[in-house]
Amino acid sequence: MLKINNLKVSVDGKEILKGVDLSINEGEVVALMGPNGSGKSSLASAIIGNPKYEVESGKILFKDENLLTMTPDERANKGIYMAFQYPVAISGVTVREMLLTALRAKNKEIVVSALDLKNAVEKEAEKLHINRELLSRGLNEGFSGGEKKKMEILQMRVLKPRLLILDEIDSGLDIDALATIAKNVAEMVKEMKMGVLVITHYQRVLSYLAPDKVAVMKDGLIVEQGGSEVVDRLEESGYQSFE
Ligand SMILES: Nc1ncnc2c1ncn2[C@@H]1O[C@H](COP(=O)(O)OP(=O)(O)OP(=O)(O)O)[C@@H](O)[C@H]1O
Ligand SMILES: [Mg+2]
Repeated sequence: MLKINNLKVSVDGKEILKGVDLSINEGEVVALMGPNGSGKSSLASAIIGNPKYEVESGKILFKDENLLTMTPDERANKGIYMAFQYPVAISGVTVREMLLTALRAKNKEIVVSALDLKNAVEKEAEKLHINRELLSRGLNEGFSGGEKKKMEILQMRVLKPRLLILDEIDSGLDIDALATIAKNVAEMVKEMKMGVLVITHYQRVLSYLAPDKVAVMKDGLIVEQGGSEVVDRLEESGYQSFE
């Protein structure tokens, strides 16, 4: 579904990704691990098309289409969704308004009813134990870290992406919240064959969201790919055993 080939990316003229190869199939969970500053979030930014991340060479294909010629909006409309390491607040826009706009942009032919959406949002909020009061506040405005992350998952459940990128959803979440979210994601992988790129430093999230593949990034390159044994090796001896 997603194929990244020899991808080189720079920011402000500094090369950050130095030839990354990575692929994600439908219904596959791929974990991306690596030391701080190795380029994991930069790779995510390049996939969603953040213009700060300049692609110098290489390819990103999504369902055999070239993502690199698409705007971030076009990529989102293809079903690529990213939950951010640090979600931003959108003042004065509720989650429902945000979702209505996104769904209408995505399905131009189908009429998305505001009432249906309201019901869907409330149902998902209940499942995720999100306080209803948060639904009528500006998105992420004054939300706690955990509330922001839960709201990201709610958005994802309503938008039903084809490819989900999770950048450190495990930082700042309490153990129960992490379990809820990871299980929700695992459910969506099963139900709709969503592909997932999960960026993390810790084994815990991967115990709920069993990865089919684990890739280790170091200094802008994927230096190792394997199964869950890679995570065990990391837990045991850290990154110095990967070159
Ligand atoms: N927008 C930016 N402007 C300047 N430098 C950047 C930018 N984004 C990334 N970098 C640099 O690129 C390198 C990789 O950063 P990146 O955020 O991708 O690392 P990471 O692997 O996600 O790290 P962490 O585990 O700490 O989240 C770092 O040296 C960082 O300072
Ligand atoms: Mg990061």
